[in-house]
Amino acid sequence: MSHSSTQLPQLLETADPMRLAILNARREGRSIGLVPTMGALHEGHLSLVQASVSKCDLTVVTIFVNPTQFGPGEDFGKYPRDLEADLAALATVSRDVLVFAPSVELMYPAGYDTRVVVGAVARPLEGRCRPGHFEGVATIVLKLFQLVPADVAFFGQKDYQQLLVIRRMVSDLNIPIRVEMCPTVRDADGLALSSRNRYLSPPQRQQALSLSRSLQLAAELVAGGQRDPQVVLRRMRELIQQAGDVRIDYVALADPDTLQPVSSMDRPVLALLAVRVGPARLIDNGMIQPP
Ligand code: PAJ
Repeated sequence: MSHSSTQLPQLLETADPMRLAILNARREGRSIGLVPTMGALHEGHLSLVQASVSKCDLTVVTIFVNPTQFGPGEDFGKYPRDLEADLAALATVSRDVLVFAPSVELMYPAGYDTRVVVGAVARPLEGRCRPGHFEGVATIVLKLFQLVPADVAFFGQKDYQQLLVIRRMVSDLNIPIRVEMCPTVRDADGLALSSRNRYLSPPQRQQALSLSRSLQLAAELVAGGQRDPQVVLRRMRELIQQAGDVRIDYVALADPDTLQPVSSMDRPVLALLAVRVGPARLIDNGMIQPP
């Protein structure tokens, strides 16, 4: 089914046409880029699509709100879904992308019973707050890699731990796909773009600025000579708590490769945080380079 008459990207909803499109592209010697998403597309997602379009001959964007990565009581049911708006957003980048938007029944048919087990890098931070989350992510990403065997897959730094989990899986399971990290896209005021920002009221959106501001503060403290992670963490927490009615899930200074907590800040360190602001659980991170 083609939407070319309406100038929208082509939408595929089942596995066979998807596989055929990949086979045809391969036969023509075209390189293939993959951008996995859960839809509700914003400029952050579109920057990944742009990166793929500029580096690969064919770009496949997947849109699938993956139930197995949501815990009980999380926002699977109310996660924003608007395929028409997503196709229109993609058309602003390129009309030549292929969109793969399978149903839950297609990805997890009755009897489905296999999962990817993830290791140490999935355990702290998000892994601790959202048990089973990365198992669900790794499982769906592996399935998407099988259905869309691309050359390169594009992921955002916004979900840094997710990227490490996927890189680990790709290496450990010998998956012939290169994983590229794209920088976090932010609004002018610093808030990292997220599909979940839609849950925020205007005052909550103001409170949400405390995430990026605390990352900024951490960078400034280290630039000013502070090297004690405990001091930096305390100042970050204070700044966030001053935003008012927010709940910190974690604020961490971690080794960028292992995500283990650091005891000094003489090398590049990743600052990561997860904060609940009203109905939204928001995450952000930033690399801190000592001068
Ligand atoms: P989703 O949250 O829709 O994000 C899809 C991709 O967009 C991820 O690689 C994410 O890191 C990236 N992204 C999100 N916000 C961004 C921003 N502000 N700047 C740059 N990139 C951004 O992540 C998922 O979906 C899912 O877990 C998925 C990998 C699709 C598996 O279900």
